Amino acid sequence: MDKDVLILAIESSCDETAAAVVKNGREVLSNVISSQIELHKLYGGVVPEIASRKHIEKINQVIEEALSTAKVTLDDVDAIGVTYGPGLVGALLVGVAEAKAISYAKKLPLVGVHHIEGHISANYIENKNLEPPFLCMVVSGGHTHLVLVRDYGTYEILGRTRDDAAGEAFDKVARAIGLGYPGGPKIDRLAREGDPKAIAFPKAHIDGAPLDFSFSGLKSAVLNYINSCRMKGETIVPADIAASFQEAVVSVITEKTIMAAKQYGLDKVCLAGGVASNSALRSRMKECCEQNGLQFYYPSPILCTDNAAMIGAAAYYEYLAGTRHGLDLNAVPNLKLGQR
Ligand code: KG4
Ligand code: ZN
Repeated sequence: MDKDVLILAIESSCDETAAAVVKNGREVLSNVISSQIELHKLYGGVVPEIASRKHIEKINQVIEEALSTAKVTLDDVDAIGVTYGPGLVGALLVGVAEAKAISYAKKLPLVGVHHIEGHISANYIENKNLEPPFLCMVVSGGHTHLVLVRDYGTYEILGRTRDDAAGEAFDKVARAIGLGYPGGPKIDRLAREGDPKAIAFPKAHIDGAPLDFSFSGLKSAVLNYINSCRMKGETIVPADIAASFQEAVVSVITEKTIMAAKQYGLDKVCLAGGVASNSALRSRMKECCEQNGLQFYYPSPILCTDNAAMIGAAAYYEYLAGTRHGLDLNAVPNLKLGQR
């Protein structure tokens, strides 16, 4: 393509209000994220109504900052990319309404993006040579999907969680050991001081579906362990619980990813989603990929958790493929991957 394509991307599916300007899908000119974590911390998790209100308050400011940091105006932009699902409906609606308003006012093409496609596409930003096909393990607060990326915009889900998402398990276990929300980064830090072999927590495997996941049994095992220690008057060591829990999650995720790569004959493996910033997961995955002759890619932590740069990367490839949404685009809280 001769002419550069500039995308203004908007993301508001959960508790981050984010906007970014991305050039040709891989070059981030700005990436502004206004996090609501401090607000939701008070309640131990995301409160949907508060999230929507905060998005409304912040969105214009975040977009203005994204444009000014990138040193561009809306007149330079070629298309608007926006997450329209999955996520919290009220939160998604704010981004979608804003994107439609800009698209209408400036007569710009509107490209709706699937949030998980965004997470996967975060890998394109820092790995300029990465191209499909590859395997992507998506581990976030709401999703645990093992995805075969056959081509840009063409996905096949090889495995998924049957119950809790990996990030959800991190958050729930963190709460049980008194670490607060969001638990993932706190468990990651505390686990460095603990013994991953201290407690043998279960690593769930599902009969007949070797690439599917289950984390609710692991979460219950941690809660039962804590309760039984308390009943016996034994002191619990939070760092050991954090390290042992993390070990169970990391080993299951790594094992299944390698298994899938071999089964489908893929030589490139990516991580994506908030949990992809977990230090133990990154280093174990790197080690196992090396041992198995697989190339391993992962985004910087800021591109793992929710952001709009990843939406801009995904929107670029959708734009090239001709995806255009009308002003009737709606938020779809349970949008399926690969659906347009
Ligand atoms: O991708 P994300 O920002 O939002 C969703 O799309 O869900 O993921 C957020 C999740 C939270 O559950 C958070 O606890 C987890 O990612 N997370 C981590 C780490 N950083 C964030 N989990 C484990 N280790 C981390 N370092
Ligand atoms: Zn996400």
